[in-house]
Amino acid sequence: MSRPLLNRRLEGLGTTIFAEMSARALVTGSVNLGQGFPDRDGPAKIAQVAADAILAGRGNQYPPGPGVPELRQAIAAHDERFYGLRYDPDGEILVTAGATEAIAAAMLALVEPGDEVIAFEPYYDSYAANIAMAGGVRVPVTLRPPHFRPDLAELTKAITPRTRLILLNSPHNPTGSVFTRDELAAIAALAVERDLLVVTDEVYEHLVFDGEHVPIVRFPGMRDRTVSVSSAGKTFSFTGWKIGWVTASPELVTAVKTAKQFLTFVSGGPFQYAVAEALALPDEYYARLRDDLMAQRDLLCAGLSEIGFEVYQPQGTYFVTADIKRLGFQDGVDFCRNLPDRAGVVAIPTAIFYDHPQAARGHVRFAFCKRPEVLTEALRRLSRLTRR
Ligand SMILES: Cc1ncc(COP(=O)(O)O)c(C=O)c1O
Repeated sequence: MSRPLLNRRLEGLGTTIFAEMSARALVTGSVNLGQGFPDRDGPAKIAQVAADAILAGRGNQYPPGPGVPELRQAIAAHDERFYGLRYDPDGEILVTAGATEAIAAAMLALVEPGDEVIAFEPYYDSYAANIAMAGGVRVPVTLRPPHFRPDLAELTKAITPRTRLILLNSPHNPTGSVFTRDELAAIAALAVERDLLVVTDEVYEHLVFDGEHVPIVRFPGMRDRTVSVSSAGKTFSFTGWKIGWVTASPELVTAVKTAKQFLTFVSGGPFQYAVAEALALPDEYYARLRDDLMAQRDLLCAGLSEIGFEVYQPQGTYFVTADIKRLGFQDGVDFCRNLPDRAGVVAIPTAIFYDHPQAARGHVRFAFCKRPEVLTEALRRLSRLTRR
């Protein structure tokens, strides 16, 4: 065939680094601190709800397009309970196949070919793919170490008449930074002033250790221009269930639903009932999740520092970014490719999350959503690096 097979928009996207590194972890018997999935499942009683739903024939056939009513009501109740937000379960909430589909559908629905989409780099890898699929033009604004704060002057400069939307992610993967109230207020003010949409990925909303999670939709003028995205994967430690959702104005939800219905149409019927119950878990559940992860963060960060990494302590999420240069290494991609053989550990080079990879040449990301004994074992193995 004379023509390349792959659509040109998708050129260069390759296989996700997570698939490549998780496969290397299996082959080499490495401790996998690459991909962000917990090594303990979420609450057994929530898993039981899903099992019961399957056996009782609830959700085994196509659920309603927007999601089962019980889940939409639970999402509305959750957003009111934690943030004082009010969304109408009928028309302002859409259940999706994880946050991943929500973001893809939002890009396909809202971005015209040639529209510019501003995203803070480093960014979660599906953003680049989704913007490309929509024919949009990615415009990165760089978060820089040590604190990875959004540079508002740079953001202002990045906005042009072709800018359609800002794609936000706080708590932020991979840097772990949590945007402050002031930063979000300034971003919101810019969105209003320049008449931009904001798509905000808040899948780590309950994983904040320092600071607070403030949904950007709460700022003046944002209710009708914000598509908020979240998901059950991280909050309830069931990343395989892929139940996510969008909350937005009826017009925006209708737009996103138009794209979503031709991606998966619907998904995960029985899991939707289980997530509805999970969202109503008492405050202690959410506090315990955060406290356990914070202890894991502290364990991994302290251990990495002791080994000699320069550690950028995250305020939230599952991840810590560390600089390898003090250990005598330069390039994070080479370092991570060799790490399974050299030390029996898998990590991810954060340069792959940038359009300007030189900004993060020596940075690698470790996931700490693993049992303490697994993290301790990873640290024991990593300490070999200093005994070369
Ligand atoms: C920032 C961010 N957004 C979205 C997702 C995907 O969420 P889901 O599994 O619900 O599709 C992830 C998963 O790692 C993530 O880190």
